[in-house]
Amino acid sequence: MAEVGSDTNKAVALLKAGELVAIPTETVYGLAANALDTAAVVKIFEAKNRPAFDPLIVHVKAVSQFFAYAEEIPEAALQLAETVCPGPVTFIFKKKNKIPDLVTSGHPTVGLRVPNHLLTLELLNQLDFPLAAPSANPFGFTSPTSAQHVQEQLGKKVPYILDGGECQVGLESTIIDFSSTKPRILRLGGLSLEFIEEALGEKVAIQTSSSNPQAPGMLISHYNPGKPVLVGEINKRISQLAHERIGVLAFRDYVQGIPYENQRILTPSGDLAEAARNFFSTLRSFNTLPVDVVLAEWLPDEGLGRAINDRLKRAAAKS
Ligand code: TXA
Ligand code: MG
Repeated sequence: MAEVGSDTNKAVALLKAGELVAIPTETVYGLAANALDTAAVVKIFEAKNRPAFDPLIVHVKAVSQFFAYAEEIPEAALQLAETVCPGPVTFIFKKKNKIPDLVTSGHPTVGLRVPNHLLTLELLNQLDFPLAAPSANPFGFTSPTSAQHVQEQLGKKVPYILDGGECQVGLESTIIDFSSTKPRILRLGGLSLEFIEEALGEKVAIQTSSSNPQAPGMLISHYNPGKPVLVGEINKRISQLAHERIGVLAFRDYVQGIPYENQRILTPSGDLAEAARNFFSTLRSFNTLPVDVVLAEWLPDEGLGRAINDRLKRAAAKS
């Protein structure tokens, strides 16, 4: 299994030697390698069993680093970045040649992000290269929000997990594409649409459909928690599934007719940030409950609720 600890020097040594290290961020844990070293990046795709068409996000220590790896950075993007970075958002720009095609799956663009986690910022500050890092889960499965989650799923494939505690946001970064004339959101995530529109002073189109070639990783079936998930119409489904052992993923209250021990509540107070923080670990917890199927409630379709609903939809989709 992987060694788990909070020794950034150890992580630095491994990354410099072209090895993988799992790193904490405020969104989810990432599986990191030197983004400028293709031999190291290949190990990410292998460990995750990730298809080569799905590009990786590149993590940098500060917004000033965007200029080293990207071109044609619009003023509006820069202003937004200075407001929200470090934070749960990824910016897509035209890439510089320095970024290997392997990292971007042959796309002429690169996703850049400054993660908001002290240990990982400390790590990036000790490196003279950026870190390519997808979420540290096998391709298609639930994203990890603790070192333990990484250990369970990828412990055999990564020598070291830098343990930075539980992720404080709990959903992956929001991805905004600034590589063409109008900004577009390619993935809903830890920074709300409302915040972004307010900051940019304009409405922003959302293009998260699975058929969108610009966001090749947004496959409709994703976040597989290991059991079938059905979203919405809970009462109707409870009567239809009378012979199944049912688990419930509820927003703020227990539902009637299912034993409480087989139900999990995301946020008793209705706080969407708390729901986001708890979401992936709660979804994962149904693995070890004696239930055959998970019924989930839709969340209010606003703020982080929108990003959680997007993940529920993908967790429910059959591959
Ligand atoms: O919060 C996060 O973003 C986490 C942490 C570790 O930083 N990372 C993450 O990576 O969620 P991953 O690989 O699980 O998801 C990255 C998504 C994929 O859907 C990929 O297709 C998209 O970002 N992406 C990366 N580069 C892109 C590009 N140049 N153009 C369009 N989409 C891109
Ligand atoms: Mg992922």
